[in-house]
Amino acid sequence: MATIKCIGILTSGGDAPGMNAAIRAVTRSAIYHGYAVKGIMRGYKGLVTNEIVDFKSGSVSNIIQLGGTILKTARCKEFTTPEGRKLAYENLQAAGIDALVVIGGDGTLTGAKIFAEEFDVPIIGLPGTIDRDLGGTDHTIGYDTALNTIMESIDKLRDTASSHERLFFVEVMGHTAGYLALYSALASGAEAAIIPEMETEVDQLGELINHGFRKSKNSAIVIVAENPETGGATALAERVKKEYPEYDARVTILGHIQRGGSPTARDRILASRMGEAAIEALREGQRNVMIGIQNGQISYVPISKALRHRKEIDRDHLELVKILSI
Ligand code: F6P
Repeated sequence: MATIKCIGILTSGGDAPGMNAAIRAVTRSAIYHGYAVKGIMRGYKGLVTNEIVDFKSGSVSNIIQLGGTILKTARCKEFTTPEGRKLAYENLQAAGIDALVVIGGDGTLTGAKIFAEEFDVPIIGLPGTIDRDLGGTDHTIGYDTALNTIMESIDKLRDTASSHERLFFVEVMGHTAGYLALYSALASGAEAAIIPEMETEVDQLGELINHGFRKSKNSAIVIVAENPETGGATALAERVKKEYPEYDARVTILGHIQRGGSPTARDRILASRMGEAAIEALREGQRNVMIGIQNGQISYVPISKALRHRKEIDRDHLELVKILSI
């Protein structure tokens, strides 16, 4: 295996709070161990268009507290084509980059997997996504901050919901996973969480109306995971208006506000540990693994496993939302 002298770092896909803390940790750990570091702008797009800059220790000063990503990010169509990836590899070689650390979610890791199959480049992935939808890791960078952002928004909505005695459907992100919906419901004392993992099993709307609101409540908050197939919170509210016209229903879609903001301490620490672990992994000769965290311990997860694995939602936690909403 060729000796690694220079490590390239990029962030790709949806940004997540804590990405900057990860960039800082990767850069400083790499420099600490004697590697040169280059920042690749706009994710895989910057590899294709050759936007690569030298990174020094000072390049990552004063960023640990910032949301977003100083490297910018993009969803890159060109990189999904063999021609685009060939160009990316040529630019990588011209820049003298021997290994890559990529920070992002499933799209980013899918790109990394294909690139590593086609070209001889060691790649280490860091799970950077608010969705927490990767296998082999208990947490992803950005999830905790997004969860707190959602919780704070629901706390505010609660004031107006109870004043007006309304039923609020709050749509949260999560891609195809219900983690943000389920745990924000638990954290904010919401009356129910509608998550994609459960959708085919019950008529959730009928269930939650009959279970909770009819008995004792004159206002309620239902967290709904985004779902383009079912129409998410908007479609549910439409159904309520038709089937239960006695409820004064409203919809709030939190949208991209969930991706912004200063990362929580938990995300900064996670990103710092994972960033350092990425460099450690390269030093140990690892390639094509994602850094995971399981029971508080750093682990190396084959990228294919991180992508394949669909984590189960803990049904007891969903039940807990129901129990505590009576
Ligand atoms: O993966 C992060 C995420 O925010 C998802 O929760 C959401 O489905 C998607 O990205 C939105 O993507 P975009 O910013 O491209 O609209």
